[in-house]
Amino acid sequence: MSSAFKLNLVHRPRRLRRTEALRALVEDTVLRPSDLVAPLFVVEGKGRPQPVASMPGVSRLSIPGLVAECRALHRLGILAVALFPNLDPRLKDGDGTAALREDALVLRAVRAVKKAIPGMIVMTDIALDPYTVHGHDGVLTPDGRDVDNDRTVEILARMAVLHAGAGVDLVAPSDMMDGRVGAIRRALDAAGREDTAIMAYSAKYASAYYGPFRDAVGSAAAAGTRSLDKRTYQLNPANRREAFTEARLDEAEGADIVMVKPAGPYLDIIRGLRQATRKPIAAYQVSGEYAQIHAAARLGWLDLAACRRESLVGIKRAGADIILTYFAREMAAELGARRR
Ligand code: PBG
Repeated sequence: MSSAFKLNLVHRPRRLRRTEALRALVEDTVLRPSDLVAPLFVVEGKGRPQPVASMPGVSRLSIPGLVAECRALHRLGILAVALFPNLDPRLKDGDGTAALREDALVLRAVRAVKKAIPGMIVMTDIALDPYTVHGHDGVLTPDGRDVDNDRTVEILARMAVLHAGAGVDLVAPSDMMDGRVGAIRRALDAAGREDTAIMAYSAKYASAYYGPFRDAVGSAAAAGTRSLDKRTYQLNPANRREAFTEARLDEAEGADIVMVKPAGPYLDIIRGLRQATRKPIAAYQVSGEYAQIHAAARLGWLDLAACRRESLVGIKRAGADIILTYFAREMAAELGARRR
């Protein structure tokens, strides 16, 4: 019966998919814990972790909690963390002045992590959204209808110097103002911080997938809306060529690493940028990408661990060298367990 129909095939790609070992032998994208960066949220005080409802498994941590988390991550092979402060609303104002305070929460967090785990790479966001009452990444124009590019850049450059002074390895401007990478590079160099690197959010899209993050840092609550409109500075999701223009500008201005964000819905941008630049590429699997996998898993519609892995492998396969992901800890734990 079985021989009744026999294809005369030279090529049978299934030969190499036959066993687990054969599949491993020909696997071309390998995820490592060192590819992953864990974004972490920090709050004032010594209280218990504050769960972020729209991001299951993610909490805002006190500085001692943050240090403990970083230790656990480091043990799992995670080499880098990105810190985001959630500020007391009373410290916020229109110009985000708390961003330039010498005793800013994020600066204390950076120092604490660096002191406890000197080998951990620490990066911070350079943008004003955690500090402003309107939740925008910069200061507004006099009519309040747009973000003032040049005035914002001046503040961000000072902010970057402060962060460098606290010991960050990389500053990550996530604001999308024109000319900010160059201004930050010049300010860092003038302050003797030639060794502080810049990871530029180069192709950062005006995405609806940032919703849960805005809950986590409180920029949405500050603005009183869940749909902050950042379309005058973040990229139009419909545009592709602009991403490369932005990346080229950032590179020319001194970016050491260029980033695409979000990641999953923008794999074509990651792939295109891989061909357009020789710089390392970071991709940010954002809060909404994380939340949607969790939500579907909760409903029993998707397998959490399998989708976690597949989503990250897909991002790496597209061409990302570095992936910022809220799955970092769990993914690293799984990779470590598989190796044993
Ligand atoms: C703000 C910033 C955002 C994210 C990182 N930095 C949100 C925004 O632009 O409003 C999003 C990260 C995420 O969704 O996980 N500068």
